[in-house]
Amino acid sequence: MNKKLVTSMLASACLVVGAAAAVMALPPPVPQSLGIYDAKFTTFTRTECLGCHGSDAVLVPRHHNLINSKGLACLDCHTMVSDGSGGFTFADFRTCNVCHKSSPHHKSAKAVAQDCQYCHGSFIDNPLDGHYVPTYGVSSITPMKDGRTVTNPANGAQVIVQGCEACHQASDSAIDPKTNLPRPISSNADTHHGTGIGAKDPVTGAPIGIGQCEWCHNFNNPGLEIRQCESCHGVKSLHNIQLKSGTGTVSPGNEAAGFGHIGNNWDCQGCHWSWYGNAASNPATAIVPSLTGQSAYTLAANKTAALTLTGASFTNVGGNSVTYNPSVVISNDTTTKTLVPVSFTDSEIQVNVPALLPGTYNLTVVKEGVKSNLSKLVIFPELTINSAILASRNTATITGKGFGVKPPADYNSGMGVFVGTTPATVVSWSDTKVVATSPAIKAGAEVTVKALNGSVSKSVLAVAKKTR
Ligand code: HEC
Ligand code: HEC
Ligand code: HEC
Ligand code: HEC
Ligand code: HEC
Ligand code: HEC
Ligand code: HEC
Ligand code: HEC
Repeated sequence: MNKKLVTSMLASACLVVGAAAAVMALPPPVPQSLGIYDAKFTTFTRTECLGCHGSDAVLVPRHHNLINSKGLACLDCHTMVSDGSGGFTFADFRTCNVCHKSSPHHKSAKAVAQDCQYCHGSFIDNPLDGHYVPTYGVSSITPMKDGRTVTNPANGAQVIVQGCEACHQASDSAIDPKTNLPRPISSNADTHHGTGIGAKDPVTGAPIGIGQCEWCHNFNNPGLEIRQCESCHGVKSLHNIQLKSGTGTVSPGNEAAGFGHIGNNWDCQGCHWSWYGNAASNPATAIVPSLTGQSAYTLAANKTAALTLTGASFTNVGGNSVTYNPSVVISNDTTTKTLVPVSFTDSEIQVNVPALLPGTYNLTVVKEGVKSNLSKLVIFPELTINSAILASRNTATITGKGFGVKPPADYNSGMGVFVGTTPATVVSWSDTKVVATSPAIKAGAEVTVKALNGSVSKSVLAVAKKTR
């Protein structure tokens, strides 16, 4: 590209920068509202793991389901350590990375099969889905994987243009939009290498992760490196990533600069330097929706419930003026339900979930041809007490459903029957009936059953009173 042309384009880009700066600072770094926060697995805290994995109410039963499905024993996970005075206590079982030391996500069966979209949704294209990657020669407007450094004639500053690093740069002083707390952003090399994909043992050189460096790199042909990135960041996915900058509906070409890939000519220039045609020449269709929160991660079985989903880009206008609206898909191996929302905005969906059987379901927001990142909805067997009746002196018969597995007898697991904080002795325990005895059990006392799936309470009724 001729130098004079570059300078004049840079000047016009700067004008746009100046105009938009009043709305919001332009990248770098980019806002963190879409997809996964740009960080490495080892820097996610327990709270952040829970941000995607719901809550203890989801994770406690998910771990405990492994007792049946993988034949694990309590002490496989709850290891005992010396308490320093001759006794034992449980090792920390709340901090995720005590047990999960490297990204489990990128050793999962879906990752091995290169079904990256299973979790990442349509923010990327799947490597093996045969999506379009150009084969024509590269030119002065072909994006680079990182970019090139030029001097901004307006202020003499060095800026990166024509590549991902024009906007996606590491930062020590970013604010996480989900928590409003400071949280650094990692570089593109660190986020990708932090997955462990292609990783090799530094000493022996033996593979210790799935995949290989060449999934992302073309070391033999540096000029064509962006085409290897396109095996996931193809023309289709890259040109359908966008946040809305103001009010209303996301609209390509009509947004302020710096909110995505197709909102503004400035965005096109970020990757292409010189923009080719205009936004309308490459009509965007359904923009990828991003799911960040749910009003509930667990619901009771066999009951309808209202659910609120939060996120971004739930609805948009395409380059073709068609409006793309969301639906909510809830599925597991045997059931798929496509739900039409009761109402929606760019950032919120209200949807009624029909009665479902117990189990763990995938939840995604879909628009024609694209889907959000994956979330989960756990449906619990309903836990209820129908009656708690004084069977004899200080012994209550509790009937209901969902009491689940019997608490272990050999140590205090926290499960069982309680009056206030006082544990009762369990005489028998099945999914529908529990018998317990304790001096504290009497007519009118409130008994609490703490099961693996939660806890539930009821006042004890005297039999005499009932038969009189
Ligand atoms: C089981 C769900 C799952 C699958 C399948 C999956 N990922 Fe991920 N990916 C995640 C999660 C969760 C994170 C963030 C935490 C981490 O690094 O484990 C992540 C992070 C990443 C990141 C860093 C992004 C950032 O902004 O920090 C990259 C790059 C990535 N994954 C690539 C891939 C590729 C390539 C595949 C397919 C070969 C894949 N993933 C399959 C769940 C998944
Ligand atoms: C950005 C969202 C996200 C974050 C953050 C995240 N996970 Fe996940 N994780 C997922 C998704 C999506 C899956 C796949 C669906 C599932 O199994 O729940 C998954 C799956 C898993 C699995 C099962 C992997 C397999 O074999 O299928 C483990 C274990 C796990 N996550 C642990 C963690 C831990 C520990 C952390 C915190 C360090 C964490 N995750 C942070 C989204 C996330
Ligand atoms: C696969 C590992 C694993 C196995 C096996 C396992 N647990 Fe857990 N358990 C956990 C983890 C992890 C947590 C904490 C999860 C969290 O903080 O969200 C937990 C939490 C608990 C809690 C606290 C419950 C709560 O509501 O916070 C109790 C009680 C418990 N386990 C008892 C048991 C008993 C009894 C067994 C055997 C029947 C067992 N666990 C088997 C991993 C396991
Ligand atoms: C005490 C050890 C321990 C702790 C702490 C722990 N986990 Fe696990 N977790 C396990 C084990 C063991 C498995 C089974 C792994 C396997 O099957 O390969 C597991 C499996 C999982 C799974 C997959 C469950 C499934 O359905 O297959 C998820 C998701 C998960 N852990 C998330 C978390 C999160 C998030 C935290 C922190 C809140 C956490 N774990 C804390 C030991 C632990
Ligand atoms: C003109 C600035 C700009 C350039 C250049 C740019 N991006 Fe983005 N990108 C953004 C913005 C803004 C977002 C929205 C970020 C958010 O809110 O999470 C985004 C989001 C993304 C997302 C989805 C969310 C996430 O963080 O994972 C992917 C994937 C992505 N960009 C890939 C790329 C790739 C690959 C390149 C280089 C080929 C690139 N981008 C170049 C501005 C840019
Ligand atoms: C999941 C995709 C992915 C895999 C797998 C991967 N890389 Fe990278 N790598 C990247 C990205 C993205 C960057 C940042 C862009 C750039 O500068 O090339 C990067 C950067 C680099 C760089 C530039 C220097 C730096 O760290 O910034 C080198 C060298 C490199 N990678 C080597 C490797 C080697 C060797 C392997 C295999 C052991 C590997 N990469 C595996 C995605 C990947
Ligand atoms: C094998 C698939 C794959 C390849 C190849 C790949 N990436 Fe990514 N990339 C991902 C995934 C997955 C994400 C995370 C999307 C999300 O937020 O869910 C990502 C995210 C990004 C982002 C957004 C910032 C971030 O870290 O989330 C940038 C920029 C990026 N990639 C650049 C590159 C570059 C440059 C290359 C080529 C050197 C490359 N990628 C190759 C899978 C890939
Ligand atoms: C995040 C980076 C990024 C942004 C932002 C971006 N593009 Fe692209 N675009 C690419 C990549 C990568 C290719 C493939 C280039 C190649 O391999 O030669 C591409 C290809 C194209 C093509 C050729 C498609 C084909 O069929 O071969 C057009 C036209 C195009 N972009 C227009 C635009 C317009 C207009 C905008 C702004 C609305 C824009 N791009 C914004 C990365 C981007």
